[in-house]
Amino acid sequence: MNKVTILTLFPESFEFLKTYGVIGKAIENKKLEINLVNIRDFSNDKHNHVDDTVYGGAAGMLIKPQVLYDALMSVKKQKSKVCYMSAAGKKLNQKLAIDFAEIKDLIIICGHYEGIDARITNHYVDYEISIGDYVLTGGEIPAMVLIDSMARFIEGVVGKRESLITDSHYNTLIQGDEYTKPRNFRGYMVPSELISGDHKRVDEWNRRSAIDKTRRVRPDLYEKFLREESKDGINQEN
Ligand SMILES: C[S@@+](CC[C@H](N)C(=O)[O-])C[C@H]1O[C@@H](n2cnc3c(N)ncnc32)[C@H](O)[C@@H]1O
Repeated sequence: MNKVTILTLFPESFEFLKTYGVIGKAIENKKLEINLVNIRDFSNDKHNHVDDTVYGGAAGMLIKPQVLYDALMSVKKQKSKVCYMSAAGKKLNQKLAIDFAEIKDLIIICGHYEGIDARITNHYVDYEISIGDYVLTGGEIPAMVLIDSMARFIEGVVGKRESLITDSHYNTLIQGDEYTKPRNFRGYMVPSELISGDHKRVDEWNRRSAIDKTRRVRPDLYEKFLREESKDGINQEN
């Protein structure tokens, strides 16, 4: 079982993640455990403050190091890995999601205000992860994105594991067009190859569709795909 402990000022915001669809089921089936720690419980301030002003006069407030340290030490074991959700971190992708699914005891720190004291980031954090090049108000939504993306790769969480392989970003291509019933929807037909019953034709159509869509929607990935294909060609010739 994978254990994820989240240090947050807003533990109640994770109720959605914990009860909804695939993640809710993963928790129910004991594939995933999610523990919530309220950072504020570790405040030693009589007003329960957890933040303070930034040295050097920069705008905003930071979560104080002692509060975060105490919260972290209350749950950290020798084998735990600590991840800080941060706009300044390495950008999350499918490969990282797969790697995170290998971590059995993960602690996620959700920042707030202007973030957290750098002594925590620099000395107690193993990974600093961003969900994209934009700034959100807190680390809770990014933490949910990380957990949702990694949980799909925990053994037994997604029923049909083949579906993970055909998903966008498993390899360089994104997923091509897919259809469900009816065959005719307002005059728009399902491509005949997909209802031919011929697996080879279906596979060829799916690959063609993935390539076409990648070219149209993600030209950056399409370029990468072409480079990989030409490298494979050279390797096969040698
Ligand atoms: C207002 S942001 C702080 C931004 C910080 N001053 C900076 O410029 O990088 C507050 C918190 O939201 C979270 N956060 C914001 N954007 C994020 C992103 N793109 N990815 C991951 N976490 C993010 C972080 O935990 C951060 O501590």
